[in-house]
Amino acid sequence: DGKKTLFSGMQATGNLTLGNYLGALKNWVTISDEYNCFYSVVDMHSITVRQDPAVLRKRARTLLTLYIAAGLDPVKNCIYYQSHVSAHAELAWILNCFTYMGELNRMTQFKDKAAKHADNINAGLFTYPVLMAADILLYQADLVPVGIDQMQHLEITRDIAQRFNSTYGDVFTLPEAYIGKVGAKIMSLQEPSKKMSKSDENPNGSIYLMDDKDTIMRKCKRAVTDSVGIIRYTDDQPGLKNLIDIYCACTGKTPDETMKEFDGKGYGEFKPAVGEAVAAILVPLQEEQARLTADKAYIDGIIKENAEKAAYYANKTLRKVQRKIGF
Ligand code: ADP
Ligand code: NA
Repeated sequence: DGKKTLFSGMQATGNLTLGNYLGALKNWVTISDEYNCFYSVVDMHSITVRQDPAVLRKRARTLLTLYIAAGLDPVKNCIYYQSHVSAHAELAWILNCFTYMGELNRMTQFKDKAAKHADNINAGLFTYPVLMAADILLYQADLVPVGIDQMQHLEITRDIAQRFNSTYGDVFTLPEAYIGKVGAKIMSLQEPSKKMSKSDENPNGSIYLMDDKDTIMRKCKRAVTDSVGIIRYTDDQPGLKNLIDIYCACTGKTPDETMKEFDGKGYGEFKPAVGEAVAAILVPLQEEQARLTADKAYIDGIIKENAEKAAYYANKTLRKVQRKIGF
């Protein structure tokens, strides 16, 4: 159909934050008409750290229904569990044999994660970028929306693909980073120098997608600001700047419009307005998510159909690779 193919995924570990929504999920919806999109729940990546099986299963399903609740059409887009398409594991093994230890040793995310999970530095954690390469290359993706922290993994994906192609001919499409309209990077409400993250230990720093309205209001009111007391969009007031970014992302207003709206008003008025704006986005999202979750048969059907759709494309690439290498 002439459309480019786009692959992205999220891990079902931790509770998704407003940062994940505004920085990723919301943009996925915006671009989904323009591309052939594969949006995966990458549960195979999740087990590189120990998971409680029941929690993992529940979170994976919540994430998948959130994709749909956020507005991703599961008929026009492929929304599926990575673990349901065995080609991911099969291609990852093959690509492991085309990846050098030295390359993986240079991955900064491995070093960070190994330091954090010193009691469980498993081989999967080390070869995680190879599985990610398989995820992307299986669908011959042209584009991958990646955050800055995943850039190195996209580079190694390209290196592996190029190495394979130069030996066996053009098998893989070389993926590029999707640089869209840059969504604001949402910072912690408690430490505005750190990004809002689901792995943050301070729960007041993050607004979780499943927080109820009272919790959202309380977290916004307690957000760290400064003693200036004027609503200005400036790096000198990073906590406030972050709240303005959140307000703008939720309302569609610009920082200039926001400064005008709150001209002469203080944080005591602005912070609850931010909370209201966030709740106006998240509460309907939660309601839609709950409605979908209750419709078990519908979601089960989506999961099955999309796994088959993903497997169709993935197996085409896998067979090509297998023929090339002599299987
Ligand atoms: P987390 O740090 O919450 O574990 P991930 O690294 O799993 O997030 O990222 C998942 C997606 O969400 C990525 O596309 C990433 O760019 C986006 N994302 C995560 N946190 C933020 C944030 N604070 N602001 C904007 N986008 C974010
Ligand atoms: Na699409």
